[in-house]
Amino acid sequence: MSAQAKELVRAHLAHAGGEQEMTLEQREFYRERIKEKLQARDAVMVAHYYTDPEIQALAEETGGCVADSLEMARFGKEHPASTLIVAGVRFMGETAKILSPEKRVFMPTLEATCSLDIGCPEDEFAAFCEQHPDRTVVVYANTSAAVKARADWVVTSSIAVELIEYLDQRGEKILWAPDQHLGAYVRDKTGADVLCWDGACIVHEEFKARGVEDLKAAHPGAAVLVHPESPASVVAIADVVGSTSQLIKAATEMPNDTFIVATDKGIFYKMQQLAPEKTFIEAPTAGSGATCRSCAHCPWMAMNGLENTLAVLQDENGCGQEIFVDPDLARRAMVPLDRMLDFGKSLKR
Ligand code: 13P
Ligand code: SF4
Repeated sequence: MSAQAKELVRAHLAHAGGEQEMTLEQREFYRERIKEKLQARDAVMVAHYYTDPEIQALAEETGGCVADSLEMARFGKEHPASTLIVAGVRFMGETAKILSPEKRVFMPTLEATCSLDIGCPEDEFAAFCEQHPDRTVVVYANTSAAVKARADWVVTSSIAVELIEYLDQRGEKILWAPDQHLGAYVRDKTGADVLCWDGACIVHEEFKARGVEDLKAAHPGAAVLVHPESPASVVAIADVVGSTSQLIKAATEMPNDTFIVATDKGIFYKMQQLAPEKTFIEAPTAGSGATCRSCAHCPWMAMNGLENTLAVLQDENGCGQEIFVDPDLARRAMVPLDRMLDFGKSLKR
């Protein structure tokens, strides 16, 4: 990540607020009110695997979804509710709005962003594209609507390798943004000509190969599961590399009873739910001195709480946390997003 992008991330996190600790009774109170309000407002929750267990449980109990970013996009588009409450980060809310312009889309807080999105500003990205007009522009879903509008394709980690393989077979050279580690991973897997932007995820970038190796030595029967936003040295020692949903699938289907997991610890909720007899261990991060405020847990995903979810549902205008996307931008961003969904469908995932 460039020094400038790191500075932007630090500045953003310094201003980000959190929720107060609550008693069990208070939590129950919030959970019940949220359930009532979801019904009253014809709203459904669309939550990411990295949100806190309480938020994931609420989404499940109320007929919403807990999923990876591709499935969140699909679910939001196909669900008949008139209002979506997207518990995740900003790009997920924007994607939901672009795909369902007729729905009202709220987030518990619009402050929840992503270091990949912050590190890929529209103007600099447009200049980068202009320097390489011969390349097909593929952007990760973790980008702003404006960056998506400049792309030929949007992709999530669950279909990135397959899409780059497909484009490579058509003889296309790729310009990839913003995650340099995922870009390097797909280049390595496919042999395609991939030119990468230098963005990074502040959570995954902190995983350390040495620490994972030490853990592996202590748990010789454990399998190592790694999200491809992690550095190449960590990816190299993985037994499985994949998107959040692919890692959950591996955790349930592999015969190992212990797993070392290099991704956000929010995912442990679903892994433990689907494989309660197995043991999941957090892969080590750098700890002090790291850019992230809470290593192995995305500080922006952690902003989705009970209090702000209820506040948004109680106020007709969602306390100002409604997603709006400029219609012209949305129209242009819809093209590569639709391509992503169609491509995903063609893989029958
Ligand atoms: P998935 O597409 O695997 O859900 O990942 C999204 C994300 O933000 C990972 O850090
Ligand atoms: Fe972005 Fe990383 Fe958080 Fe995912 S975990 S939303 S890539 S900062």
